[in-house]
Amino acid sequence: MKTYLVTGGAGFIGSNYIHYMLGKYGNSIKIINVDALTYAGNPENLEAVKDHPGYEFVKADICDKEKIAAIFAENDIDFVIHFAAESHVDRSIDAPEVFVRTNVLGTLIMLNCARKAWEKEDGTYPIGKKFIHVSTDEVYGSLTGENTFFYETTPYDPRSPYSASKAGADMLVRSYMETYKFPANITNCSNNYGPYQFPEKLIPLIINNALLGKKLPVYGDGKYVRDWLYVLDHAKAIDLVTQKAALFETYNIGGKNEKQNIEIVKIILDTLLDMLPDDDSRKKHINHDLIAFVSDRKGHDRRYAIAPDKIKADLGWEPETMFAEGIRLTIAWYFENSAWMENVTSGDYQAYYEKMYK
Ligand code: NAD
Ligand code: TYD
Repeated sequence: MKTYLVTGGAGFIGSNYIHYMLGKYGNSIKIINVDALTYAGNPENLEAVKDHPGYEFVKADICDKEKIAAIFAENDIDFVIHFAAESHVDRSIDAPEVFVRTNVLGTLIMLNCARKAWEKEDGTYPIGKKFIHVSTDEVYGSLTGENTFFYETTPYDPRSPYSASKAGADMLVRSYMETYKFPANITNCSNNYGPYQFPEKLIPLIINNALLGKKLPVYGDGKYVRDWLYVLDHAKAIDLVTQKAALFETYNIGGKNEKQNIEIVKIILDTLLDMLPDDDSRKKHINHDLIAFVSDRKGHDRRYAIAPDKIKADLGWEPETMFAEGIRLTIAWYFENSAWMENVTSGDYQAYYEKMYK
């Protein structure tokens, strides 16, 4: 029985990953979810597994050395799956400091605690222990030429406080792999979408606003490109890397699905109209006139696109959920979970929205 220490499991990708893993492995694994429950962490995301015998929740900040060390001391951890981070670019532009604290210092503390728990006297590590550092393609910066892609060998060129802090964390993991032969893998994934995504990110924000008949804010000319991956495909890739990847390898994970933001917004509107029943009153206000071009994000990266060739060649992973299907699954989830959306958009979210979109 393997024990997984998952950080940030109450967030978007972490909670999808936990659902996927408990669904796949049932009682043959144990997951300890360590999360500080910031604005982005939501226990409701894990309501369905809270009484699962293979699941335990610990409320802790990854910057709290003593608490993290105690979790390692009390449990025989096999794998660390490190998701916990501040993850929203716009917030990083507004208030960068917490990004450095959580993403850089927090990662360092996770590395130190894992190293202390795992390293043997001779400096080697027991076979099977592994730290998976979940990172982003944004560390590579912004693509300019057409038909250019991010490879694992692409030099880092972060351009926002968020991506700079993630790049700093990646560099620390790389340095531990080099210096201490610390058993780890790094994954750099493109933009995810799917259930449980907080509506500060493009796709859930547009779905929510459209259903409410609110303006759909599109930054700049709307021609910025992202490579969208359905979140369960990301969870599957992380599982494969954990089980099968050689130590010290890094993997790019992407959806092979590049789209301009304006295309995404139009697809969401058309899909909503298609999926809502004819007698649903919201159909009356959902139309392309809701689209509002607003001032651009500072330092906005023009295009991200991953070449997921290495993970396909080494581990046989490819994106399975095409965007047309993934966006329908996502919208269906938001239809069925309107109470979830109401809960996360009450309170602080309104103040955030006013400030960002005034
Ligand atoms: P998220 O913002 O939805 O969730 C982050 C989680 O981390 C929350 O549950 C939050 O409570 C927790 N957290 C934050 N600070 C913490 C701290 N100091 N201690 C403990 N827990 C803390 O983020 P997400 O979108 O699920 O992203 C997860 C990871 O994947 C991040 O590392 C992110 O950089 C990376 N990533 C995200 C995407 C994407 O499209 N969302 C793409 C590639 C990589
Ligand atoms: P986002 O979901 O914040 O992810 P990231 O910035 O990490 O790629 O944004 C995706 C794209 O959508 C990005 O180019 C910024 C743009 N965007 C808008 O045009 N309007 C919005 O309200 C938001 C949140 C994002």
